[in-house]
Amino acid sequence: MVTQKDIEEAAKIIRNGGLVAFPTETVYGLGANAYDANAVAKIFIAKQRPSFDPLIVHICHNEDIGKLSLNEDERVYKLAKNFWPGPLTIVVPKSNIIPDIVTSGLESVGLRMPDNDIALRLIDAAGCPIAAPSANKFGKLSPTSAEHVRKQLPELSCILDSGRTIVGVESTVITLETDGFRILRPGAITSDHLSKVLPMSGKLSEDILISASPGLMKSHYSPEKPVYILGEHDIPQELSNAAFLSFNGSAPEDYKTIAYLSHSGNLQQAAVNLFGALHWLEESDIDFIVSEAIPEQGIGIAIMDRLRKAAYRFHLK
Ligand code: TXA
Ligand code: MG
Repeated sequence: MVTQKDIEEAAKIIRNGGLVAFPTETVYGLGANAYDANAVAKIFIAKQRPSFDPLIVHICHNEDIGKLSLNEDERVYKLAKNFWPGPLTIVVPKSNIIPDIVTSGLESVGLRMPDNDIALRLIDAAGCPIAAPSANKFGKLSPTSAEHVRKQLPELSCILDSGRTIVGVESTVITLETDGFRILRPGAITSDHLSKVLPMSGKLSEDILISASPGLMKSHYSPEKPVYILGEHDIPQELSNAAFLSFNGSAPEDYKTIAYLSHSGNLQQAAVNLFGALHWLEESDIDFIVSEAIPEQGIGIAIMDRLRKAAYRFHLK
């Protein structure tokens, strides 16, 4: 259990320019004082993250929107009111108070208020917004437990451990445009949810991903073992040392190991279990992972996005 004393100690580390891993509802983050360029530089070093990949700034009060951004768009407050705290990152024009290193030199910043009591108390106790990417090495699997963080960042001295995260995939990242919104990274907050709050419909866009969101690559979230998706990749014939990622409870006999995202085709459950299953399988002695395709509805869009990115580097021609 995380105590108030743990939170206060972690907040002190943040104030003194150090790094802290902390839970959010999506995945664990690796946080630093967003106002301190030297502290933020430590995140890029610890993660081996390229400097072109911008960080999300985590806040605990809506008033921080005005301080951290040059936002004059009422829609941001409407989104904050409806979805914060929650798994939504809103990209807004940045104010000068945020050092360039946080946003990789972009004129915009991604803001998010996480729906996790420990995260919110940490930000509040630190007295500054917290810049934090997922607490994994760049391109590797995101952490949904403190053990996952320890595995990839063993040198990190402060991890606030509150067990497994409850959403399981990273926040939806959106940007606002004159005629609507654009989803840069799919997550638990879907286009349908957003359309109910913003009048214009939005879309998931491939064409502007490179320029609008430099950190979003085709290969990402990738385990050490090759990943194949049924219906998308040619599956090897010999499966006796392979693992099957099951969504509907099916357990084909030819595989050595079955890992269940869900036993009943439940998308929320599959999202919660996704990274945990991949972490487990990358440590096991199987040769490769074959996943069932997940229906691309609701959070299923985010799950398939992560699975395709996990698989991508193993299928380059
Ligand atoms: O759920 C989450 O969002 C987690 C938790 C810890 O909050 N964080 C997370 O951060 O997933 P990270 O750094 O692993 O992914 C954030 C992505 C970046 O790779 C980048 O593509 C996009 O968000 N992003 C951040 N700031 C941006 C900006 N100013 N413009 C466009 N995209 C941005
Ligand atoms: Mg990440």
